[in-house]
Amino acid sequence: MPDVGIREWFAIGRAIAQGHMSRYGEGAHLTSGFEAALGDRLGADHVLAVNSGTSALVTALAAAGIGPGDEVLVPAYTWMATAAAPVQVGAVPILVDIDETLTMDPEDIRRKITPYTRAIIPVHMGNAVCDMDAIMSIAKEHGLIVIEDSCQAVGVRYKDRYCGAIGDLGAFSFNKMKNMNIGEGGAVLTSDERYFIRARSYHDLGSMIRGHGDRLNEPEFVGMNFKVSEIDGAMLQVQLRKVIPMLQRMQKRRAMLAEILSQSQEFRVTPHNDPASAVSLTILADTKEKAVALTARRGVHNRLRDSSKHVYTNWEPILNKRTFHPKMNPWAWAKREINYSPDMCARTLDILDRTCVVPLKLQYPAPVVRLVAQKLAG
Ligand SMILES: Cc1ncc(COP(=O)(O)O)c(C=O)c1O
Repeated sequence: MPDVGIREWFAIGRAIAQGHMSRYGEGAHLTSGFEAALGDRLGADHVLAVNSGTSALVTALAAAGIGPGDEVLVPAYTWMATAAAPVQVGAVPILVDIDETLTMDPEDIRRKITPYTRAIIPVHMGNAVCDMDAIMSIAKEHGLIVIEDSCQAVGVRYKDRYCGAIGDLGAFSFNKMKNMNIGEGGAVLTSDERYFIRARSYHDLGSMIRGHGDRLNEPEFVGMNFKVSEIDGAMLQVQLRKVIPMLQRMQKRRAMLAEILSQSQEFRVTPHNDPASAVSLTILADTKEKAVALTARRGVHNRLRDSSKHVYTNWEPILNKRTFHPKMNPWAWAKREINYSPDMCARTLDILDRTCVVPLKLQYPAPVVRLVAQKLAG
């Protein structure tokens, strides 16, 4: 993630001096300026800043009109927020296996579609992009809405487009682990005007007090308060200027390391859905035991199986279908019995068991990282 430092400090100072803390205060322009700049950069007609990636997913689902009785396909490997978001709008998550690219397996998407499926949430995990061509074509064939969870891939490209701006809607997170970091934050992206109007209403309690002139005859409905402040807007403007140069450096480093590591007889470099713009790097061993042994080697980080709530077996509230109130339980409203079990996505577990992260180590000079990779490749 880019550093947070003196530039953000000055930007926040200027925001305070400007005197408008609320993004909808008269004369406030920092958040709206950021939204316009992000949309221009990534090719989305509308961007709405919200207070987290989870809020972005919930807002996107609400904007798309997903609700009780609907099934939403989510990958079995993602942060639990992807599966929790449908529950917040009254829908149920249906788990889909990943393939070796660490993203949703298009073939398993086909197997999991039922007459009640309304949406797919493909997740670009750890900057590894989904097979969006295949996913968009399946969605078109079955009339499904695609909400890209790009929380872990802000600014990342898939072929000639940007993640988050390919599906009907996209969700970004700007928390401290992400490509843009303001501590906590998020954004919804869409090029569909109606979805945008509904998203904007939803994130601002229904927006009935704002007097937005462009409501497209959308009736008022009850929403949440997911707004950001101008302090967030100020920091986001600075972080947006840092993210693309950082990703360009990551892409170069990744290409160098992937070339070296692909010579190994011990493991394979994880296949990628767009190798030319890849910024993520993981390696895949034949067996779990070999992967465990690899984590002890220099240049290798953890096994993905050990990445806590990113693995569906650790999503206890989802597996147990437990909500904050027994009567607000989307599984009771589903059109068929939905059950989860720890072994339901065995292929995902097998892949995560055998996959290890290779950090790009941008903080170290390229020759040092190259030497470590050469040793690892044998
Ligand atoms: C894939 C994915 N989706 C959604 C989220 C939720 O984002 P946030 O933590 O900003 O709510 C995250 C954050 O960790 C994530 O990694």
